[in-house]
Amino acid sequence: MKNWSETYRPKKVSEVIEQELAVEKIETYLKKFPDKKKSLILNGPAGVGKTTLVYAFTLDLNLEIFELNASDLRNKASMNEKLKPVLEQKSLFEMGKIILVDEIDGISGTDRGGISELISLIDESKYPIICTANDVWSQKLSPLRKKCEIVELKEISPAGIKRVLNEILKKEKIKANPELLNKISIKSNGDLRSAINDLEAASKLGDSEPVEVDERNKKTDIFKILRHIFQDKASVEMLAAFDKTDMPLDEIILWIEENIPKVYSGTELVKAYERLGKADIFKGRIYKQQYWRFLVYENAFLSYGISEAKGEREKKGFYKYGKPERILKIWLNNQKHAKKKTIAEKYSRVTHVGQKRILKEWHEIKNILKNPTVQKQLKLDSDEINYIMKY
Ligand SMILES: Nc1ncnc2c1ncn2[C@@H]1O[C@H](COP(=O)(O)OP(=O)(O)OP(=O)(O)O)[C@@H](O)[C@H]1O
Ligand SMILES: [Mg+2]
Repeated sequence: MKNWSETYRPKKVSEVIEQELAVEKIETYLKKFPDKKKSLILNGPAGVGKTTLVYAFTLDLNLEIFELNASDLRNKASMNEKLKPVLEQKSLFEMGKIILVDEIDGISGTDRGGISELISLIDESKYPIICTANDVWSQKLSPLRKKCEIVELKEISPAGIKRVLNEILKKEKIKANPELLNKISIKSNGDLRSAINDLEAASKLGDSEPVEVDERNKKTDIFKILRHIFQDKASVEMLAAFDKTDMPLDEIILWIEENIPKVYSGTELVKAYERLGKADIFKGRIYKQQYWRFLVYENAFLSYGISEAKGEREKKGFYKYGKPERILKIWLNNQKHAKKKTIAEKYSRVTHVGQKRILKEWHEIKNILKNPTVQKQLKLDSDEINYIMKY
């Protein structure tokens, strides 16, 4: 099933919000092609409409789109193979074409082939080429910049994000929760895709108890740590890598699992999965036997172990680390529910009301539980109290 950000991806240029300048530049570029600058780079942060705009233009103008990615460019032979039908095909009904080279940050700086391939493609192409990038100003892309016109796309405003979220809720026939919408649209930092993802997760996980939208800071932290482990040379000090975040190890595992195949391949990948598996075994023993010393082993496999899967070396380049969207939301929801259950247990012990009924009447009971005297009487711990006060 498609997620909301895909389902509600604009199909027409006129539905793309807040990128008027880019729309204008693309229009002019397509009209004037081939001009001096033979390619256009749409540069900007994640989730602001770069890929969407290219597709919307091809739909509006009835053009064929041909998409290339960084790994196609790495290998001249395979790229030519792929491009052949595009460049040769001449039919009576020849449609116009756009070549989209999405996410050019992925072209690694070390294999200099990639960039020069792209440049010669730009020189030779009979068709307009539009590239997208998150950071076109990086050193490795400098030879490319001379060939291209750069169009900057900006973060989407909180008001714009809120508008889009409201429209989606209307189409989904879900009642909007203004407080949640505010929170999501501010915390998403202009990234409309992540705002839509957060909204979808929150609304699928229950009515009035939205899962906390995670802070973007926390995300930056974990991305830094992932980059350190996956890309820097493995070293013993990595054993302390997770001390820098207060994200629980259980959650860190989800992030590592999600990103292993994005960075590693071949035997590295196999090794990394093996070590992840070992960490998981220790995790199981910790839970079953409450043997906390195993935490040390779990931690070692996840930090040094995952890092060393690539051997004693660095891994340069740009990797797009991702968030374990679905699985993370489910995990968070289970965590939340686990708290609810332990509280219900304690409440039931004192009041002799059945646990099922407590969960059903949670809305009313929750208010009783906000009273500090009651909390004391039930011997709620600080996590449980936090939970009650938050939801
Ligand atoms: N300007 C916009 N107007 C309307 N919807 C948008 C806009 N920007 C993003 N979206 C929504 O967010 C989703 C992701 O957008 P898109 O794929 O264009 O991001 P991007 O800029 O290419 O990001 P990335 O750098 O991560 O590839 C779209 O499917 C759409 O639902
Ligand atoms: Mg994109």
